[in-house]
Amino acid sequence: MKIIDGKKISNEVLDEIKNHVESRVNNRKKVPHLAAILVGDDGPSQTYVNSKIRACERVGFNSSLFKFNDNITEDELLNEITKINENKEIDGFIVQLPLPSNIDQEKILTQVSPEKDVDGFNPFNYGKMTLGIDTFIPATPAGIVELIKRYKIDLSGKQCLVIGRSQIVGRPISILLSQNQSFANATVTVAHSRSKELEKLCINSDLIISAIGIPKFLKSKMVSDNSIIIDVGISRVVDETSSKGYKIVGDVDFEDFSQRDVMITPVPGGVGPMTISMLLKNTLKACELKD
Ligand code: GUN
Repeated sequence: MKIIDGKKISNEVLDEIKNHVESRVNNRKKVPHLAAILVGDDGPSQTYVNSKIRACERVGFNSSLFKFNDNITEDELLNEITKINENKEIDGFIVQLPLPSNIDQEKILTQVSPEKDVDGFNPFNYGKMTLGIDTFIPATPAGIVELIKRYKIDLSGKQCLVIGRSQIVGRPISILLSQNQSFANATVTVAHSRSKELEKLCINSDLIISAIGIPKFLKSKMVSDNSIIIDVGISRVVDETSSKGYKIVGDVDFEDFSQRDVMITPVPGGVGPMTISMLLKNTLKACELKD
């Protein structure tokens, strides 16, 4: 088994961003500023947002965190977004998902100004991505693409199976990898909860991207030799030996693959860190577009 080291590549990307920030400071240009909106007290969401804010410090960005109770109304949240849209200091911002069920996610994401939409979830930017027009690519699929590029993985004409059709990962990565781009050109299949004969789809794939959030779902026997496996799953499972009482596991039964001739992104240390570095890369882009 060969590891695709997302942590290492993410650190490389963050170092590149840090260098950019330093040269901006030397040239008296604006320091990029990322803001995050967090609604409610969902544990994993708080962890992710904190990691994003910490990464800002690492590269020299300014950052702001706007926290709201989960009793905030949709109108109040729309107003808060309008204020951030108009705030000249903030270059890009995200609304951490999921939102409480009483809030219409689509309405909220549409309110985010496309110029500051560093998650790329506003339908305007999502549409541009779908058409192959330069825009903010959602951070997790962008992170997967970056790993494919930096490991010089050639996907042209290869069978790529995406398991999961979420708006955040499955749908956008399936669009990106089927595009006529040098890093892509794959033959993409999107599997989901209604798909039949998933094991057959897996065994016939050169690249498997699993984004369903079922711990240890993908087993060695489901995969062919020389496959590449990208694990996007992040699930908390009980672990009494850990001080937190849980550990993070992916969709892939990692140990089951130890003797196999495959490439895998580990969890943690694979796609997760890439998501953060690509969000910051998008924020730098948002800032530079205003220069
Ligand atoms: N929740 C899970 N992944 C993401 C992400 O990439 N962006 C936001 N805003 N929320 C998420």
